[in-house]
Amino acid sequence: MVRLALTKGRIEADAITLLEGAGYECAELAADMRGRKLFFSAGSGKIEIILAKAADVITYIEHGVCDLGIVGADTILESRRTFYEVLDLGFGRCRLALAGPAGCDFYNNLSHKIVATKYPNITKAYFNDRNVDVEIVKIEGSVELAPLLKLSDAIVDIVETGSTLRANGLEIYETIAPVSARLIVNVASIKMKKRETDEFIERITEELNKK
Ligand code: PRP
Repeated sequence: MVRLALTKGRIEADAITLLEGAGYECAELAADMRGRKLFFSAGSGKIEIILAKAADVITYIEHGVCDLGIVGADTILESRRTFYEVLDLGFGRCRLALAGPAGCDFYNNLSHKIVATKYPNITKAYFNDRNVDVEIVKIEGSVELAPLLKLSDAIVDIVETGSTLRANGLEIYETIAPVSARLIVNVASIKMKKRETDEFIERITEELNKK
C-alpha cells in the first residue's frame, strides 16, 4: 500500500481523472460521497489518498508520512526540494509571473520596490539573480489586493486565465516560470517501497502516454 497526498482545489479534479484512468478507482473521493473526510481508500485498497493544501503535501512527503504527492510546480519551486520530482502530469497549467498596475514600468526608477507574494523564496531568488534589491511582503491569498491597497508596487503570483489581474487593473510585467502539476516521491519510499511506487509511476506514465 502506498499513500498519496493530493493537493486540494485547482488540480484536484484533473488528478482524480488521471488516477481513475490509470485504474485507481476513486469512488470515495466523489463529491457526494466525501463529506468532510480527508482520508480515502482508492484503487480497491491499493492506495490511500489524503487531501491537503499544497505546502502541506510537500511537508508530508518530506517527513515520509506520505510516499507520493501531486502538487504544483510553483509549490515545489518554493520548497527546499528534498524529494524526487518524477513526472510532469501536464494539467494545472499556469505561470508564475511578476505583475502590477497596468501601464507602470516596474524597473523605471531606482526607488525602493515592495513585492507582495505567497512565494517569498521564488521572489527572492528571482530578484537576486537580477541584482535588484526588493522588499518582500508575504501574503497568504488574494495577493492582487496588495498593489490596490498600495502595500506593494507589484506581486509575484500564479496567473492562469489572467481574469483576476484584469478585473483588478493589473497586468503581467514578466513571466517567471511555467507551472503544471507534478508527481513527487519521498526519497526513502522510492527504495523501501520500490515495487509499489514503481507500479504507481508506471501506471500513471502509461495513462499520460495515451493522451
Ligand atoms: C490564484 C492566484 C490568482 C488567481 C489566478 O488564486 O493566486 O489570484 O488564482 O487565476 P486567474 O489568472 O485564472 O484569474 P486562488 O484562486 O488559488 O486563491 P487565492 O488568491 O486565495 O490563493
